[in-house]
Amino acid sequence: MIIEPAQRTRQTSEYYFSVKLAEVRKLLAEGHDVINLGIGNPDMMPSKSTLTTLGEAVQKPQAHGYQPYVGTPAFRQAIAGFYAHTYGVKLDPTTEILPLIGSKEGITHISLTFLDPGDEVLVPELGYPAYRAVSQMVGAVVKEYTLRENHGWQPDWAAMSALVTPRTKIMWLNYPHMPTGAPATPQLFEQAVAFAQEHKILLCHDNPYSLILNKKPPISLLSIEGAKEVAIELNSMSKSHNMAGWRLGWLAAAKPYVDSVLKIKSNVDSGMFQGVQEAAVAALQNSDDWHQQRNAVYEGRLEAAEALLTALGCTWDTAQEGMFLWGKLPETTESAEKLVNSLLIEKHIFIAPGFIFGPKGNRYIRLSLCTPKERIWEAAERVRQ
Ligand SMILES: Cc1ncc(COP(=O)(O)O)c(C=O)c1O
Repeated sequence: MIIEPAQRTRQTSEYYFSVKLAEVRKLLAEGHDVINLGIGNPDMMPSKSTLTTLGEAVQKPQAHGYQPYVGTPAFRQAIAGFYAHTYGVKLDPTTEILPLIGSKEGITHISLTFLDPGDEVLVPELGYPAYRAVSQMVGAVVKEYTLRENHGWQPDWAAMSALVTPRTKIMWLNYPHMPTGAPATPQLFEQAVAFAQEHKILLCHDNPYSLILNKKPPISLLSIEGAKEVAIELNSMSKSHNMAGWRLGWLAAAKPYVDSVLKIKSNVDSGMFQGVQEAAVAALQNSDDWHQQRNAVYEGRLEAAEALLTALGCTWDTAQEGMFLWGKLPETTESAEKLVNSLLIEKHIFIAPGFIFGPKGNRYIRLSLCTPKERIWEAAERVRQ
């Protein structure tokens, strides 16, 4: 006998990467040298001070118990310091910051906190799949908004109002944008805040890529005047501090929003290990130089990734930020799916097809820069041959 799972499990199918990485593992087991440019999983180390702090923390006898639901005061203080230094945004560490086990977890907490069944959620037509999946899980209705390809993948604000109904509750935004690499701009954020205020919508901005290959000083949505009335910003140490597996993120917002999310979150999980939070404090103090050195490595990889796109006949926008390169397929290539499959089977190169971020990505591929540049050059060479 098998007990039936809930209806909501039927709305989602197995994650593309979960299926495809099984194929990659099979090829590896058969002895093939697969170059994996699929997922965005930083391969570089956290800073030395981060690792030393963790090593010391695990030895402390009092470090192993439950931690506060709202994170340790020192971690929240360090996040406030990071926001002030990085974005020039002042946050109250006691009331405006809620540490999370990664920003992915925050998407679920926010959705559980603010969405009733039948509420509507504005989601970018190309984007991180969790915005859509979690909205559906909580019984909300997803409405996709258009991203204007020829206008740097900016939201189509002119068409956005037509999507709004009295049930519209949340709008998801993410710039620097994944997967297109479109940068964040103050004008875009101003438009978003004005839109959210006009329509009384909670603007949820997901900001994990602001420090990766950014061409201008990084910005936070919360730097926009009036943003705290209508916005929550998620942020993460996964990419910016090479700590994806540590599960460290937070949300920043005005106190009423933080308090509401905490009502849900404190019933779902508990504070992270003290040692991880102590190490996070050290990581948040990484020097600007540390961030520049990390970006210098990504620069080298970007050059190789551009050579790979050239070998595939793709075109791309050089304004991209973040740790991926989003390339447009030439007309002669039938589909992203066919290309990705043939590259995997014939050249043992794994890349992500654009459609996994939404159907509009059909004619695109996404290369991750989380592999040493020599391997990306080798991938380009394999394609040229
Ligand atoms: C746009 C975006 N948001 C959120 C996440 C999740 O990040 P975290 O590791 O903080 O959960 C990712 C991870 O790939 C992402 O690309």
